[in-house]
Amino acid sequence: MVAHPLPVENGVSTRSWSASVNGRNRQIIIRDHDILLDVLRDGVGTLGAKRGCDMGTCGCCSVLIDGKPKLSCMTLAVEAEGCEITTVEGLADGHHLHPIQAMFAECGGSQCGFCTPGFLVVCAALLESNPSPSREEAQDAIEGNLCRCTGYQQIVDSIMEASEIITSEERPVSNTRPASNPHPEYGG
Ligand code: FES
Ligand code: FES
Repeated sequence: MVAHPLPVENGVSTRSWSASVNGRNRQIIIRDHDILLDVLRDGVGTLGAKRGCDMGTCGCCSVLIDGKPKLSCMTLAVEAEGCEITTVEGLADGHHLHPIQAMFAECGGSQCGFCTPGFLVVCAALLESNPSPSREEAQDAIEGNLCRCTGYQQIVDSIMEASEIITSEERPVSNTRPASNPHPEYGG
């Protein structure tokens, strides 16, 4: 699918860029120096990854590239060419939240709209690679995601509860909630 191209100035080298974003093939014209965060937000139109510090220290812009957490503010879009990119919008399975999303809601892990998307994708990647993390491993996984406002206890609690769901023999669909935006006015 061709998305809207980013604005291109005269004389700037451009290229066609394509990748799978949240399971959909995207093709767009980008500048060689475009940052992945800009391409995702302004080119593709996925607004989940947020610009916090813009210098690689806060984790708000975290996305998954081929399943691995990356800071999209520190990644050239060309580095993600042809990759599978997952933002927070891609975590839910249809109308069912990912267990970590459901447990963020259940355990009070959800924080503001800037830091939460980054925490969620990083936690989802942890649980994918290590479905039964210890609390210490959970703490290590989120060490690159900062929140100045509150503590991390409930986030770690959410990871442990999501781990219980993921590793239980019968993954209880009823423990997930319909994926919907509770604050549609804050769509970005
Ligand atoms: S915006 Fe990328 S690390 Fe802060
Ligand atoms: S930065 Fe999001 S709640 Fe603190």
